[in-house]
This record gives sequence, structure tokens and C-alpha cells, in this order.
Amino acid sequence: MTLLSDPQGLAPIRNGIGEPDFGTPKSKSEQQVTLVIDGAPVTVPAGTSIMRAAGENGCSIPKLCATDSLEPFGSCRMCLVEVDGRKGTPASCTTPVEEGMVVRTQTAKLSKLRRNVMELYISDHPLECLTCAANGDCELQDMAGVVGLRDVRYGYDGENHLDAPKDTSNPYFDFEGSKCIVCNRCVRACDQIQGTLALTIEGRGFNSKVSPGGLNFLSSECVSCGACVQACPTGTLEEKSVIELGMPTRTVQTTCAYCGVGCTFNAELRGDELVRMVPAKTGGANEGHSCVKGRFAFGYATHKDRILSPMIREKITDKWQEVSWDEAINYAATKFKAIQANYGDNSIGGITSSRCTNEEIFVVQKMIRAAFGNNNVDTCARVCHSPTGFGLSTTFGTSAGTQDFKSVGKSDVILLIGANPTDAHPVFGSRLKRRLRQGAKLIVVDPRKIDLVESARVKAQHHLQLQPGTNVAVINALAHVIVTEGLVDQDFVNERCDVEAFDRWMKFIALPENSPEVVQAQSGVPAEEIRAAARLFATGGNGAIYYGLGVTEHSQGSTMVMGMANLAMATGNIGREGVGVNPLRGQNNVQGSCDMGSFPHELSGYRHVSDDAVREQFESVWDVKILPEPGMRIPNMLDNAISGDFRGIFVHGEDIAQSDPNTNHVMAALEAMDLVVVQDLFINETAKFAHVFFPGTSFLEKDGTFTNAERRINRVRPVMAPKNGKQEWEIVAELATAMGYPMHYDNAAQIMDEIAAMTPTFKNVSFELLDQVGSLQWPVNDAAPEGTPIMHMNGFVRGKGLFVETPFVPTEERSNRKFPLLLTTGRILSQYNVGAQTRRTANSTWHQEDVLEIHESDAQMRGIADGQKVAITSRIGETVMRAQISDRVPAGVVYTTFHHPISGANVITTEFSDWATNCPEYKVTAVEIRPADSASASSNSLDDVLMKA
Ligand code: SF4
Ligand code: SF4
Ligand code: SF4
Ligand code: FES
Repeated sequence: MTLLSDPQGLAPIRNGIGEPDFGTPKSKSEQQVTLVIDGAPVTVPAGTSIMRAAGENGCSIPKLCATDSLEPFGSCRMCLVEVDGRKGTPASCTTPVEEGMVVRTQTAKLSKLRRNVMELYISDHPLECLTCAANGDCELQDMAGVVGLRDVRYGYDGENHLDAPKDTSNPYFDFEGSKCIVCNRCVRACDQIQGTLALTIEGRGFNSKVSPGGLNFLSSECVSCGACVQACPTGTLEEKSVIELGMPTRTVQTTCAYCGVGCTFNAELRGDELVRMVPAKTGGANEGHSCVKGRFAFGYATHKDRILSPMIREKITDKWQEVSWDEAINYAATKFKAIQANYGDNSIGGITSSRCTNEEIFVVQKMIRAAFGNNNVDTCARVCHSPTGFGLSTTFGTSAGTQDFKSVGKSDVILLIGANPTDAHPVFGSRLKRRLRQGAKLIVVDPRKIDLVESARVKAQHHLQLQPGTNVAVINALAHVIVTEGLVDQDFVNERCDVEAFDRWMKFIALPENSPEVVQAQSGVPAEEIRAAARLFATGGNGAIYYGLGVTEHSQGSTMVMGMANLAMATGNIGREGVGVNPLRGQNNVQGSCDMGSFPHELSGYRHVSDDAVREQFESVWDVKILPEPGMRIPNMLDNAISGDFRGIFVHGEDIAQSDPNTNHVMAALEAMDLVVVQDLFINETAKFAHVFFPGTSFLEKDGTFTNAERRINRVRPVMAPKNGKQEWEIVAELATAMGYPMHYDNAAQIMDEIAAMTPTFKNVSFELLDQVGSLQWPVNDAAPEGTPIMHMNGFVRGKGLFVETPFVPTEERSNRKFPLLLTTGRILSQYNVGAQTRRTANSTWHQEDVLEIHESDAQMRGIADGQKVAITSRIGETVMRAQISDRVPAGVVYTTFHHPISGANVITTEFSDWATNCPEYKVTAVEIRPADSASASSNSLDDVLMKA
């Protein structure tokens, strides 16, 4: 049988179309070594393998078990070379270069050896290249060509693996055992890149085979990150989409639209059809890794539920009517203007979306300020990270995290508070695990035992399992130990911080009320555990703080952010690699939506609307007056809607009826308005109250930028034309124009040029520069033309770091006899936010419904069995979901996710919010649980709740 092959023998390319693979990772050494390869002098960093040195200098050595994302393994023997003065033929992937070495990679002897090795592989491989899905993207096939193998001498009749079983259990990729060459790349990818260790090589010698443990991939520990699929050099592990649609033929680089990690992907297409998403090795945030959402869950973009035509209706009980774009835009504009004529300029407003591009967001807030004529613009960041903006700008002077993700590779002690990165920020979670496995120490502060507390080869030194709502007490107690035990970095404080503020803070924090012994009674965390964690953080080397919504979504969210900033400054952990205070942002562009001026009190770049000079700058460019007073926040808009003063809203890509707290209140407010305009992909819960629906574009159709949690501005490039016929910024500009404020852009690059001209931190940003360098972390200006990976290196942005006293004020939401349990919420890996996207993909295979985690003792006390439906009642509302008995939560605490509208977790969350920013207190709700059979209101769909509202 004849093999199909690449007779040119070019460098093997596997990681998507066009990214070269140099076989072994790049050396980080600064020392240079010069050697001779095939007669040519070559200079590379010390520690580089011969394979990489040759590849980087245009001379590819055949390989199978090596790939540059993994440490070399040296098992396939394809990469043998000859080295002067050395016996035998060493493997070039495992042999580092040496000064003066003379290497030959192409000799008759080597060719023969390689051909013999390849012959053995091929004699046990199904020769069906023509029909194999990996045809054209198979390194085995390529290598057969490179070594000149045309046929095998042994025949195919002996013992072989051709009947090895196929595992098709994973919804996104297949494992075809007969094609496996046991190169171990998948096992190493799962271990070294993902850190899950789901795969092993079972058996020895001829009987060796890859095993996912469990029955199959689906039942194993596998989290479907796709790293093994990407690493596999053959068609053994292959995307189902490739099997179905064929090999892609072209690629467009873009950015994931799920979480705030902001992974870069090569979208690979065949014609106009997206075949697969391959994480880009050049991606600044992900460096070639991905999670199940970004890599596989893109099918929602072409889901049949997508609305592609604009629609209007007079009343929300009417049927939707499809209309032209012009009609829909004029209808909305006329209604908005009529409301303002009748009820005043302040009676309308809008919400920007953290899922949209910077350019779209900038244009929406501009429309509200310029065409609506008020500052009634807010963003969904209000309900997640607004306390981050307040807390970090107060203490450091900038509303953003201090580090790049890479920085964690230099951390020695990581304090992880209220965040669950392996579920919510998985690619950062893998990075963190890699560092922990290198020996960094971990302190977890969380009411729930997240995976990182103890998982494969990772164990936290301390888990401060506090009661929900007591973050501030615990951070104060950690600081108390540092201050009272003389562990403050006084040099850093004297040099970098406001010393008077520090002295005031030090007196406050040393008070007995902040001691671990007092805080033990409030938080439930043993005093000795707090003391030990504080000592570790202060003395263990580079200390880094990473945190999530478990910090911000509290009535003291802003206080807690400042408490963490105090701790970082007191220990000198700011302004270099490996340290810092870092929010793990929820949505893909929550950083960008804050940067772009989405808050009612700030224009882009966090400049207050009351600042005359700032307003004048915008007024002269936009040719319009901007009000000097802040506008309404989301909760104010909703409250005023109920009182009848606020009557029209533009909701851009945000499902407030599902994602905001106290759903009944939100729905009542929406129902009370005369005009609700929703721009989104699907008819979501909010759209059920809408009078105008503008179909939106998915990230695959957008042209613009997202800014991730490390302030990294990434390009989002259109992979396909907008399915609704228009870019979202175009629709918004047309609406503004129809309302009497002419707005026009030729393309998204022009919008970025305007952003750059008006926003000091974006001064030098342009699409052109981004296309040249890949991504940029703001500030990008004359002082930092290549961006700023680490903030506050030579001084804080505000001048001196400001210590702020952070007294612990317990939330008013407390457990009591009627509601004795505390409910807290979070995310799961396979679903995203309210699930509008992921529920429309095969990700639901792993999570079909939200469940309530409950401790065994609480379940027993209430006669609740595992898997039973239970009613969850708070003083706000009631919902029903299935119980899951779990030791992840302590007695007295229950936990759920909010990915499914059917469970409507926010039906029961309360109206309490952060004192400074109104960020809702999602993380603490006093509830009671009982078997649903005895519930008075067991129906829980939002439609039913709506009927009752
Ligand atoms: S998909 Fe990811 S988690 Fe699953 S086996 Fe492959 S590398 Fe491991
Ligand atoms: S499945 Fe692929 S990567 Fe894993 S051992 Fe087999 S051939 Fe190598
Ligand atoms: S980690 Fe976040 S940004 Fe990266 S692929 Fe997953 S969801 Fe997308
Ligand atoms: S590539 Fe070097 S031994 Fe396999």
C-alpha cells in the first residue's frame, strides 16, 4: 500500500495552520552558545536542544514524540543525529547544544536508521490516509515522506493494534486507538500544560496504550481542554468537527469571547465554515493553551435560536414583528425621543455590555451621553467588579490588576481569595497549577473547598474556610498578624507609600478587634490558621494576591479590595514580577467596558464627568454638551422605573433579568417601562420585556478589541460576515443619528483611533500597531510605547500608595431561625455566566442543570437525599433545584451556580449591595431548604415567577 506523504520534508506544522513547531521549548537562558549544524555556524541560548537549534536555523530534524509545547521525552528515536566525538546517534530532542559542537542531521546512516524506525511504526498503523480525517495534518504521514518510506517490508499480518477500540464518548473529540503510536505527547500535554493528569500509559512494551482512566474520556477526570488533541501527532485524537467537515484550509486569528483570561485563537476554516478553534502559541495570555469553552463551545454562534432580523412590538404581550433595520431604528429613536419629551431628558438610559468589543462599548456610552443627553449609562461590571475599580484606584491610583498572567510564574506564595480559577478562569488555573507544582505555596480563602485546595499534585498549605460575608474580618486579621509580629516591609512603606496614612492604618489594624482570636468567632477560621497563613504570606518570598467575585460581590466588596491592597503594600508585594493584586475578571471584556467610560460618573480612562478639562476635551471632539453630574446606576434606573420616572432603556448584550439580583424587582422594573430596546444574539429573559429587538453579532463576526484581566488589548477579527447584516457599532451609530446626533464611522479602526485620542492610557493604541505586535497591555503611551505588563514599578500611579482603614461591618444579610443557612454562588467550568451561549453547545453534556451543594449534616437534618429536588427560600423569593450532598461546603453553607434560567438562582438573592459601588451581594443570602415535595410553590420557571409578579 502506498503512503500519502509530504515529499518536501518541510518543518512539521501541527499547531493550527501555519504555526511552526520547533520540537522543544525555547530556552530562557541569556548565555549564548555557538555550534555547527550541517556545516553552518549556529548561535542559540544555552539549554536549547539540538533539534530546536537546527529548526530555528532552517534545518528540520524528523520527529514524532517531540513538540515545542512539551518537555522532550526521547522515545520515538526519529530525531537521531551524529555529533563529532560522540559515540552512537543521540536523540536531538533531548541533547542540549554545547559550545563548539559539530552536528550532522542528514547522513546516509541517519536516513537508514530513521527509515527503519518509521517502518516499524507504519507496520502497525492502519493505512487509510486517503480517508483519514487527519490527512494533511498528520506528522506520521509527513515523517514517512521525510524519511522516504514508501512501503513496509514486514507486511501487516503479525500481531498489531489495528483492532484497538475507538472512544467517541467526548462530545468534541474522538480517540481512535488503532492510530496511536504511544508517543506520550497527549499524556504529557495533560500533565504539563493542563495539569489535570487525566491520561496515563497503561501496560508495557507492545501492550502499552493510552488510558483516560475511568471507562472512557467522558467518565474520566478529563476537562476537555483539548491540549492532548492539539499535541497528538497522528489522527488518534481528532476533533469531531474535523472528522465531519474536513481539514481547514485557512485561519484567522482572534480572541475568545468567554472569560477575562482573553485567550488568543486561530479560527480555522474550510471555505466559510468554522472547523475548529486552535489556541495560538503566540497568544500573550494563553501561550497555546485553552479551555473547553474557548476551544470547543463556539457552536452557539450558528445556533438556530439566533435572531437575525430586527423586531418590534407595541406591547410585550404582542407578537414580535420582523421589520427592516431602518424601521426598527426609527421606531426606537422616535419612542426614546417621545419619552424624553413627556418625562424629561433623564427618563431614559442604557447599559453597555462586557461581552462586546471596546469599540462597540465606546460607541454605546457615547450615544447615551451625546444623543440621550445624560450620563445614565452603566455596565454589567456594576454587578461584578465595580469594587475593584473603586478599591484599586483609591489605594494605587489605577482601576485594574497590577500584573500580567506570566507573573505568577515568579510567585512564591499565592493568596487566592474568593476565586475558583480552575472552573472560572481555566487557562490561568493551569498556569497557577504549574507554578504550585514547581513549589510555590498556596493559601485559599473561600467558604467552599475549591479544586485547588486539593487536587492532582496540588495541595494548599492553608484553606481559610470562612463564613460567607466575613472576608474583611479575615483580611484584617492577616494584616493584624503582620503588623503586630513585626513583619511589615518598612522600607517599602517608607519609600513608596503615604506614611501618615500608613501610621493611621497601623494603629487601626493593631486593635484587638482585628486579632485572629476575635476574628475566629466571626469567621469560623481558627486563629492559628490565620496566624500561620499571615506569616507565610509575609515571609515566603514573592507574595501575589489573586481574587474573584467572592471578594467583590459583597456589601463590603470595595472595603475588601482595599484590605487586600493594604496587605500587599504592607508586605512590599507590589511593583515587580511575582507579586501584586490581581482581579480575575468574569466576562471577556469587563476590563474594557470599565476602561471605555461605561460608568455614569466616568468618561473613558476613568476620568470623572465633573472634571471640566476632561469634559471640554470630549465636548470639543463630540460637539455636544456633557452633563457634569454623574448619571444613574443600574439599580437607580430600575428603582426609578418602578416609581415611574425612568421609562426607556437600551440594554446592550446583557441579560439583567437573569444576571442581576432580586429578579422579581428587575422584572417589575422592566415591565413598568414604556420602551425596552435589547440588542443580543438570542431572545433572552430581558428580551421577554422588550419592545424592540436588535439582533447582535457573535464574536466570530465582530471587528475590534477586547481587554482582558491583565489589561491586555487583544484584536478580535471577523471570521465571518455579520449574520444580521450589520456591525453592532453601526447599529448604535444609526440609532444615535436617528435621535438627532449624527454619528458615523467607516470601520472599527476609526473608533479605536477616537478612543486613543481621548484616553491617555490608550494613547498609542491602534489596530495597525496591534496587528504588528499581537497585543498590548495598557497604559500604552509615549512613556510605555510597548505597553505595561507590570504596574506601579517605580512608584504608584497615584503617587504614594494609600493605606485605607477597613473596619469590618457585618452584612445585614444574616442567617436566623427562619433562614438558617447561607447561600453563596459561583461558576462551573463547562458553563458560562447565564449560560446563553454554553447552554446552546454540547457543553451541557457536563452540566444540564444548576444543583445545590449542601453539607451532609444539613441535608440529614432536613430529610434531604442526594439528588432530591429541594425548595430554596430566602426572604426575597423561592426557587427549586436538585440537591447534591457535598463535603465541599461546610455545615451551614450551601452553594449553587446560576447558569440556567430555569433554576433562577437570582430569584432569591437580595437587594443588599456594596456600600461604595452598589455591586450586589450575590455571595451571601440567608436561606432555608426543604424537600420540594412539601414546598408551597414548587414551580420555579421565570415565566411562572413573572406571572406571579
Ligand atoms: S482534553 Fe485536556 S484534560 Fe482531557 S485528557 Fe486531553 S489534555 Fe487532559
Ligand atoms: S493518542 Fe496521539 S499523542 Fe497520545 S500517545 Fe497516541 S499518538 Fe501519541
Ligand atoms: S480560559 Fe477563558 S478566555 Fe481562555 S479559552 Fe477558556 S473561556 Fe476562553
Ligand atoms: S522526537 Fe526525539 S526521540 Fe522522538
